[in-house]
Amino acid sequence: MFNIYQPQKAKIISLNTESTDTKLFRLALTDKKNQKEFNFLPGQFVQIGLPGWGECPISFASSPHQSDKYFELAIRKVGQLTGQLSELKKGDLVDIRGPFGNGFDADLFKDKPLVLVGGGCGFVPLRPLIMDYLADKMENTVLQIFYGCKNEDTLLFKKEHASWNRQAELNVILEKPSSKWAGKKGLITDLFKNRVITSNSIAVLVGPPLMYRFVIAELKKRQITDENIYLSLEKKMYCGVGVCQHCAIGPYYVCKDGPVFRWSDIKDINNII
Ligand code: FES
Repeated sequence: MFNIYQPQKAKIISLNTESTDTKLFRLALTDKKNQKEFNFLPGQFVQIGLPGWGECPISFASSPHQSDKYFELAIRKVGQLTGQLSELKKGDLVDIRGPFGNGFDADLFKDKPLVLVGGGCGFVPLRPLIMDYLADKMENTVLQIFYGCKNEDTLLFKKEHASWNRQAELNVILEKPSSKWAGKKGLITDLFKNRVITSNSIAVLVGPPLMYRFVIAELKKRQITDENIYLSLEKKMYCGVGVCQHCAIGPYYVCKDGPVFRWSDIKDINNII
């Protein structure tokens, strides 16, 4: 068993441009035995780094069911390290530590209608759950996906949308689309209008904290219990390794105790969303 705290070299197997500022990296640890043992839950993250540029936490974008061969990370160019990462090519090496955090345990969602709500680049950790659902790993569930984004340029995984919509219910809305956009325009909460969501649903939310307040209000209107609402507070993470204390919320550190929390466990913490 390898040490999750020790950086390991991973090779870029392929790269796909997802949006104007985001690339999807498919990576495999250079140590084949370690890659075979590699495993994670949707919602967990790794530290990705480059020598001399530091490291940053990035959530998994692929399904754990391929984790013995590879894993994928959607990396958005927002700073010096991610800028350097975005310049890399197929075959280049990066440092990987992890996986870290708790993630979404798919077993909890079995046999329940599943509602996934993603805002902006926060949508990434939902892709592994969708992939598992489509691969029939979550039997007897109904899947509804709600995805709000700024515009077409920042919309992720566009090539997969048609397939998702054939096998589940995909609802996409853009805040400021171009005149060519034929879909819905507005805020993510607009997608909930006239939408039937049953009260026994499990809801998983990933996105900016402000989105959570309004989406949770919509879910409560449909009598979904606080115990059945899961959210990722990954946006609150900075160092990702329990050092900087930026992610402290009430008695928890998001990077160590989360980033996934049940709403019932954190809703009484002041200014949590
Ligand atoms: S992100 Fe730094 S302590 Fe959690």
